[in-house]
Amino acid sequence: MTDYDHIPAMLSEAIRYLNLEPGKIIVDGTLGGAGHAKAICGKIQPDGILIGIDQDPDAVESAKQKLSAYAPGIRLFHDNFAHLHHILEVLGLDGVDGILLDLGLSLHHLRSSQRGFSFKGREVLDMRMNPRLNTTAKDLVNRMKEEALAGLFRDLGEERYARKIAKKIVERREKESIEYSDQLADIVTQAIPGSARFHQKIHPATRVFMALRIAVNRELEVLENFMKALPDYLNPGGRFCVLSYHSLEDRMVKHGLREFEKQCTCPPKFPKCICDKKPVMKSISRKAILPSMEEINQNPMARSAKMRVAEKI
Ligand SMILES: C[S@@+](CC[C@H](N)C(=O)[O-])C[C@H]1O[C@@H](n2cnc3c(N)ncnc32)[C@H](O)[C@@H]1O
Repeated sequence: MTDYDHIPAMLSEAIRYLNLEPGKIIVDGTLGGAGHAKAICGKIQPDGILIGIDQDPDAVESAKQKLSAYAPGIRLFHDNFAHLHHILEVLGLDGVDGILLDLGLSLHHLRSSQRGFSFKGREVLDMRMNPRLNTTAKDLVNRMKEEALAGLFRDLGEERYARKIAKKIVERREKESIEYSDQLADIVTQAIPGSARFHQKIHPATRVFMALRIAVNRELEVLENFMKALPDYLNPGGRFCVLSYHSLEDRMVKHGLREFEKQCTCPPKFPKCICDKKPVMKSISRKAILPSMEEINQNPMARSAKMRVAEKI
């Protein structure tokens, strides 16, 4: 079994909520190991179309092989889902019947990409999911000002010891460039007080690595912009299903969907509505849908997953 063969998070729930039927046109904006994509293809064939996107060329290459049995009905793109409007234009489509996003990084990134997502071995601190991006984690760690680094670890990593860690990084890089994942993991570990380290359930560097990855891949900006355009991509009745693994992402999705559900936004003192705002989407589940304990035991990567589903009106 390769890293691209694991069972993706909340597979059966995502497939159920996407309301799949033969003939539908569905976007998987985060192909990864193509586990979700394969299950989608199985439901929309014979004449449905799966538009598969991943910003990592390795994922697209692997998906091409895994989905070869469905080749006539798949269109794969090495791209960012932020460019979905352009992809639909290329395909001559006005809208699609469903969109799945399973955000974040894949098991392949963590286990075998050798791009510094993991602190378990010596890997170059890169963290780009798309090798065409300009900035790497090494650039950020060696070039950002101490204050900015602390802000990044605090805001994107919710790291309690952000200041101490940033200070330690700056002290170290004055002596030598920080090049490798294990080197950074050691610096972070040294910056965190021993008593705090003792009580932590996760590796002390987990939050710092997550913050750097989110910054390198501009994950929050991409999601925010995507959410603004979401209803434009969907046909009426089309479903959006998103799996997020970070509280900031889930909050962004929740607020984005809430905006689309709003009726009139005129101040209450107005005698009559002048905004003419109508809901464009409705949430299918009020609260985020969480993985079962059984799934978490079988697939620890699903532990922090939160799924939200909405439908275009
Ligand atoms: C959690 S994995 C997806 C797993 C996948 N659902 C499966 O069945 O195996 C996330 C994937 O999305 C990709 N990705 C993350 N953000 C992206 C973006 N903005 N545009 C395109 N791909 C993205 C990553 O490269 C990674 O391969």
